[in-house]
Amino acid sequence: MIHVIDAGNRHLYGAELEQHFRIRHQIYVGERKWMALERPDGREVDQFDNADATYLLAIENGRVIGGTRLVPTEGPHLMADVFPFLADVRGLQRGSDIVEWTRIFVVPERRGGDSKVLHTVMAAMFEHCLANDISAITVVMETWWMPRFLELGWEVRPLGLPTMIDGMNCVGTIITVSEEAYRRTLAFRDIEAPVILSRRGAKRAPGERRIQHG
Ligand code: COA
Repeated sequence: MIHVIDAGNRHLYGAELEQHFRIRHQIYVGERKWMALERPDGREVDQFDNADATYLLAIENGRVIGGTRLVPTEGPHLMADVFPFLADVRGLQRGSDIVEWTRIFVVPERRGGDSKVLHTVMAAMFEHCLANDISAITVVMETWWMPRFLELGWEVRPLGLPTMIDGMNCVGTIITVSEEAYRRTLAFRDIEAPVILSRRGAKRAPGERRIQHG
């Protein structure tokens, strides 16, 4: 199941969030060699890891095995603050019903083949957006994602022209949130809904008790 972690419950997920920052460093700096993100403390944290960020983490027996980050587009975010030229055809898309998607990852041993981890995290993103009246997701992505998203039946529209950035072919896009995209992402890997652990069943603070009904 996917855990949704935001300012309201992050005090319950200190260890898992910390683990996830370290995994991000191993993956983005160690593996992908995005050296601008290197930090001596081994935690990959940027200016968008603030109280407004929402993390969707796949956690299995206390181990983070995948995850991603959503950031509101009304405030500072990657496309607006760092790569605005990627939206110079259709313009930056901001709104209370639009979030920006960044930092999708799966730990190396759980990738590829018939692994469900990536598609479960992506389905969780749609599940979360549908439940929170979010109608679209913007993303700064490498262009190789495009055929993968189209294969899933997602509606993905470029906001600007593909551009080479540090040797990577990147494009700014907007993805429509829909029941159809959610359903097809689940079906692609035969994943059962819902994928997000409900807050009622999620972690509780020490001493906090589940309310019994009936
Ligand atoms: N460049 C080009 N294509 C890539 C790619 C990359 N860096 N990473 C994945 N792909 C494509 C390839 O087509 C790949 O198939 P191949 O290995 O036969 O070439 C396919 O995606 C499957 O990728 P894989 O890594 O085997 O498994 P996955 O689909 O379960 O996971 C990711 C995909 C991206 C989540 C995983 O590779 C990952 O965590 N990578 C590191 C983090 C990252 O780069 N995230 C994206 C930017 S935020």
